[in-house]
Amino acid sequence: MNIWNSPIVTLLVAISAIIAVGDKMNHTQSIKDGDKLVSKGKIFALGFFHGGSGSSTVNRYLGIWYVFSPETVVWVANRENPLPDTSGVVQLTDNGDLVILPNRTTSAAAVWSTNSSKSPAVVDPVVQLLDSGNLIITDDKGLLLWQSFDHPSDTLLPGMKLGFDKTTGQQWFMTSWNTPSDPSPGSFVCKMSTKGSEHEIFGDVYGHIRYRIGPWNGHWFSGLPRMKTYNDYTFTYVDNETTTYYRYDTITPGLYARLMAFPNNTLARVAWNTNTPRWVALRSAADECDQYSKCGPNGVCDPQGERFCKCYHGFHPISNSSWTDRDYTQGCRRNEKLGCANGETGFMSYTDVKLPDTTNSTIHRNISLDACKQHCSINCSCTAYAPYYLSDINPRGCVLWFGDLFDTKVFDQDGQDMYLRLPISELPMTTGKKHGSKVLAIAIVVPFLSVFTAFGIFMWAKKKAKERKAVAAERAERERINEYEGNRWNDELPLFDLTTISSATSNFADANILGKGGFGTVYKGYLLNGVLIAVKRLNSNPTRKKNGQGVDEFMNEVSLIAKLQHRNLVRLLGCCIQQEERILIYEFMKNRSLDGFIFGGTETRAELDWKKRVEIIMGIARGVLYLHQDSRLNVIHRDLKPENVLLDENMNPKISDFGTARIFEGDQSEVNTDRVIGTYGYMPPEYAMDGIFSAKSDVFSFGVLLLEIVSGRKNRTVYQGNDGHINLPSLAWKLMEDGSTEQFLDETIKFTCLDHDEAHRCIQIGLLCVQEFSVDRPAMKDVIVMLSTQTSPLPKPMRPGFSSEKRPMVISEDTTEGRPSITTTNTDASSARNYTNEITMTVADFR
Ligand SMILES: *[C@@H]1O[C@H](CO)[C@@H](O)[C@H](O)[C@H]1NC(C)=O
Ligand SMILES: *[C@@H]1O[C@H](CO)[C@@H](O)[C@H](O)[C@H]1NC(C)=O
Ligand SMILES: *[C@@H]1O[C@H](CO)[C@@H](O)[C@H](O)[C@H]1NC(C)=O
Ligand SMILES: *[C@@H]1O[C@H](CO)[C@@H](O)[C@H](O)[C@H]1NC(C)=O
Ligand SMILES: *[C@@H]1O[C@H](CO)[C@@H](O)[C@H](O)[C@H]1NC(C)=O
Ligand SMILES: *[C@@H]1O[C@H](CO)[C@@H](O)[C@H](O)[C@H]1NC(C)=O
Ligand SMILES: *[C@@H]1O[C@H](CO)[C@@H](O)[C@H](O)[C@H]1NC(C)=O
Ligand SMILES: *[C@@H]1O[C@H](CO)[C@@H](O)[C@H](O)[C@H]1NC(C)=O
Ligand SMILES: *[C@@H]1O[C@H](CO)[C@@H](O)[C@H](O)[C@H]1NC(C)=O
Repeated sequence: MNIWNSPIVTLLVAISAIIAVGDKMNHTQSIKDGDKLVSKGKIFALGFFHGGSGSSTVNRYLGIWYVFSPETVVWVANRENPLPDTSGVVQLTDNGDLVILPNRTTSAAAVWSTNSSKSPAVVDPVVQLLDSGNLIITDDKGLLLWQSFDHPSDTLLPGMKLGFDKTTGQQWFMTSWNTPSDPSPGSFVCKMSTKGSEHEIFGDVYGHIRYRIGPWNGHWFSGLPRMKTYNDYTFTYVDNETTTYYRYDTITPGLYARLMAFPNNTLARVAWNTNTPRWVALRSAADECDQYSKCGPNGVCDPQGERFCKCYHGFHPISNSSWTDRDYTQGCRRNEKLGCANGETGFMSYTDVKLPDTTNSTIHRNISLDACKQHCSINCSCTAYAPYYLSDINPRGCVLWFGDLFDTKVFDQDGQDMYLRLPISELPMTTGKKHGSKVLAIAIVVPFLSVFTAFGIFMWAKKKAKERKAVAAERAERERINEYEGNRWNDELPLFDLTTISSATSNFADANILGKGGFGTVYKGYLLNGVLIAVKRLNSNPTRKKNGQGVDEFMNEVSLIAKLQHRNLVRLLGCCIQQEERILIYEFMKNRSLDGFIFGGTETRAELDWKKRVEIIMGIARGVLYLHQDSRLNVIHRDLKPENVLLDENMNPKISDFGTARIFEGDQSEVNTDRVIGTYGYMPPEYAMDGIFSAKSDVFSFGVLLLEIVSGRKNRTVYQGNDGHINLPSLAWKLMEDGSTEQFLDETIKFTCLDHDEAHRCIQIGLLCVQEFSVDRPAMKDVIVMLSTQTSPLPKPMRPGFSSEKRPMVISEDTTEGRPSITTTNTDASSARNYTNEITMTVADFR
């Protein structure tokens, strides 16, 4: 029965003359044009508003808007049927139907109804506008009869769903307005696909797919890697037997965000008071690669590329001529048919891609990646697979594709891994699998772009007979890189494209240089998304390359830092190995390195008061402890010094520069090396003299560092003692013996350090760390205990190592770049070990 059309409605309307106020309305009340329901917290209001493109028409719509921004309408009731004048009335029928009537006195039919009436009749229905923006109709028992959240207009508010209910068939989707001022339904619709085993959000224009957001991977949509950085929101994706939907919620109260489908075919998140997108999910013009299947079947879109479209490795354009005309829609086909026999095919891994359209794919929700590979290998029509659910703790499941791959894109970072099936002959330089044979075996996948580039160089170089030797060397180098290939299931380290880094640093402009050293140059850079980065570009060192060390040392640092994650370690964002380049990309540290503060002018030094210095010491200690025992690997840093301690905007210390770090085996307490690498003054005697290093070497360096932080003085400056020249630890030791440690403190903090006992204790701990014999030095965990308790008695430190200055050592304070460097000349014939000039190799990272 057509209830809203029935005489009963008219009858009810006639008797309800009471105007509703507040956030609720029952069936004896009504709202006329000009009245409003306002939610309890005065956030949302419901009422009539004007809409429409032509000024001649007075279209009245019932809508919900922000009280503090009435022009921001988030929901519209009668989008298809506006009222022609202001005589409209909103009324709740006594069987729970909310209706819009043209006017109060006539028997005209309702122009809109919630259709929520139930039989048998509902008792005492009430309509209420909530602070979430949801308009709900409930009965006397509080049972929900209808809610506006189930009928989105063009806006998805926090808590609303985009998806569908499998039992009722109801879909929740967004439809843009016709124009920015006309609420009638526009051509742009965002909805979750209901087909297949995986459901993705599509943006359709006039019923044709225009955009696709990519499958949900547990944290973000494959096509929207930026999502994962939005810390103010939680994202929920539910896909079970009864329902599939996506929703988001704000964590920060008062953050009135909305996700909106704009009439110009843009889906974007905006704040309540502006229509300027905060982030754009789908857009019409800004990123060509967001156009659905721009590159056709098996084509890949690269927004940074000179041409947007490329074919996957092992594929070629179907039509060269249309490709030349930049019409990529026909896409690519395989160079060689995919055989099916066992061993005829293999997989090539790609990183940072938007996963292909999953409409025709198969999902295995709870199998390992290996099992997945197995599944794909045994099915002749399987063309690719990818991890499905990413999670730090329990990554699982996978997606398998059969047939052509549609709508993929490459990202600078944070894309996903995918494994493309290729005939063995198409696979680049396959190398034997090495299963955990090496401690340093690192899982890194060369992105296909650099494979292309490298391949291009290879072909070009090949032509030049003269350079045949160079080619061989290059190939050997690349093979080394390939050794590091493997699956990155657990490693989240993105590989950046050289062009990205180059544009981030304005082509490595001098103006962006943060620091230079023996290793190379550090640049400041901005990624396209505005993130500040520090780019460490290693020198291409011909001698290192000759003996094949280049990749190894680079990979040492990469693999180490990638696996280490701690508050007090600098975070590696990614790396780039392309052509000759070896580049590391770090988070940018606003306050640069510690030496800039503790060895700075009086004012700079005063910025670090006693409390701050203790916090920094503690932070460094925690970082070192993590390296030594808490990380999955046991790592010795070997080059702790103020230049390698960076400070973030809150002055939290972060240890950097792992170029010299070494992993040691669990049962190994000491390692002997021929190559003494580190910085003089921070090296313990047994390492500098005999090349023996252990965790206690780092303890020694930490001690020196602590003394420097407390005193604001450089260890590498020589101090005048009573009986000749002494270094910083010896100075501290002497002053402690004399009972006058306060003389050792940085004069700028003497006043902020009220507790001289604490300072004394701190210096004593530093001295314990720099004792000559490594067995006497405390382990890092003991150092932390000593630092964090004020009462436990401390042993009396013995004379520091290197206390006498009789060693043949030339100290030069090279201040040309404000950076001290030390040259050592070894004239001590009794020591057979040759110091190399690598002793001065490492310098501050980001200065
Ligand atoms: C409807 O609400 C008004 C105002 O809150 C109240 O006075 C009236 O009793 C209510 N009527 C019914 C039937 O609940
Ligand atoms: C009420 O609406 C009907 C139908 O739209 C119209 O014919 C009638 O003139 C209206 N009456 C008033 C008083 O506005
Ligand atoms: C209510 O039902 C009628 C008839 O089935 C339909 O035309 C109308 O669009 C429905 N109203 C809403 C708001 O769904
Ligand atoms: C599906 O998810 C919804 C929302 O989380 C939940 O209410 C419902 O009980 C779930 N159904 C099943 C069968 O797990
Ligand atoms: C679409 O419209 C919104 C709101 O007016 C605007 O901010 C955005 O820039 C537009 N997008 C494009 C691609 O024109
Ligand atoms: C397309 O171009 C490639 C390389 O330029 C060439 O090898 C290939 O034969 C061309 N294909 C067709 C169909 O012309
Ligand atoms: C899915 O399969 C159908 C039927 O074979 C095909 O028409 C369609 O193009 C496929 N879609 C995708 C995205 O692979
Ligand atoms: C996934 O599989 C593992 C082991 O096969 C099992 O322990 C776990 O319960 C499964 N998880 C789900 C969600 O089915
Ligand atoms: C390969 O997988 C497809 C899709 O799941 C399936 O239809 C087909 O039967 C499978 N073929 C074999 C040989 O298992």
